[in-house]
Amino acid sequence: MTTHPIDLLLTGIGTLVTPLGIRPLRGTDMQQVQTIHRAAVAIRGKTIVAVGTEHDVLRQIEKVPVLQTVDLEGRLVTPGLVDPHTHLVHGGSRENELSLKRAGVSYLEILAQGGGILSTVRATRAASPAQLLTQATRSLNEMLLQGVTTVEAKSGYGLTVEDELKQLEVARKLHEFHPVDVVSTFLGAHAIPEEYKANPEGYVQLVIEQMLPAVAERELAEFCDVFCEEGVFTADQSRRILQAAQFLGMTPKLHADEIESLGGAELAAEVGAISAEHLLAASDAGLAAMAAAGTIAVLLPGTSFNLGAAPARARDMIDRFHLPVALATDYNPGSSPTESIQLIIALASLKLRMTPEEILTAVTLNAASAIGRAQEIGSVEPGKRADLAVFDAPNLAYLPYHFGINHTFAVVKNGRVVVWERRRV
Ligand code: NIG
Ligand code: FE
Repeated sequence: MTTHPIDLLLTGIGTLVTPLGIRPLRGTDMQQVQTIHRAAVAIRGKTIVAVGTEHDVLRQIEKVPVLQTVDLEGRLVTPGLVDPHTHLVHGGSRENELSLKRAGVSYLEILAQGGGILSTVRATRAASPAQLLTQATRSLNEMLLQGVTTVEAKSGYGLTVEDELKQLEVARKLHEFHPVDVVSTFLGAHAIPEEYKANPEGYVQLVIEQMLPAVAERELAEFCDVFCEEGVFTADQSRRILQAAQFLGMTPKLHADEIESLGGAELAAEVGAISAEHLLAASDAGLAAMAAAGTIAVLLPGTSFNLGAAPARARDMIDRFHLPVALATDYNPGSSPTESIQLIIALASLKLRMTPEEILTAVTLNAASAIGRAQEIGSVEPGKRADLAVFDAPNLAYLPYHFGINHTFAVVKNGRVVVWERRRV
């Protein structure tokens, strides 16, 4: 330990729980989290420098000046939560679809009638960058208050070169000025826009020949995602788009087998996607292929819950296929209108039958891995970034157990206390 001062020393941690490492944990290894009672964390600048029992940490930093000490009075601490799949930046909302859905009109029928994603496309095209920024900031604030310190944000409601760039530029601005880090994904292939209804292939060409190069040139997205679904993009179209993106240096992701099984899981494995999302209808062969390829399964239980669909086969994915599983809100105005990662934590327990330890791994280290950030975030260990969530909870199981409220008391982001007593500071 050098004698440079410790900027922030967190003491009085009742229980610290964290997965360990810089790689996703697979299958039953997701259960292996480290639990330290009466813990402390020492932070220098943006980086964690010591973690352990209070006794051990104080001994390690014995000769080092400490600039600020914060007593967490017995609370629960975890890594800052990571939400690796959101459609954060969009215009408008779709509460008007509630009555259609209650009348039995399906998600894909609403889309085929020009509603659904296409109605958000109209609202997003009509919105100015400033309006999109205001709306997304409100959501990002909500996420931060829940303990989220990094989110992924997808485009996909512009569906023209200009409007896709507009969404991604708003995401970049959010990343620059908001405490929460925003990682961008280009999802130009989210729906066939109305003007290409009679010529879907023409739209695929537009994505490949114009959108992808424009996004790559401006370095506006690290990842490229496609909504591979019946009546949206076929497996063949998805493959061509993802391969073109890879050629430009973007890493593939895939909305795979959300409603119908089109071989999305198989395709994600084939192109070496970092993650495949939803997977409600994924086949056994597809899950096995993903496990062999190391593709992370990003499960979105808020979406299946809200669509009234059967949940993803999380137990099979973990126990039989030994997959690394991550969890996300899928925050979007249609299939999952919630910013609440803590609702997702509860649903993962209630609907996916995941254990509290598996859930923690899925919203921290595995979520960070799904957006290529496991080297820096996702666990509380020396050398990782000082992103931490502090909960008013006696233990980890309490988070999924006591559902429907926000348990977050404080948030540390990049070594600074940014939420305290449930408020932004
Ligand atoms: O992940 N399925 C495609 N995209 C989103 C929903 C988008 C919307 O309905 O606006 C999803 O579920
Ligand atoms: Fe999504």
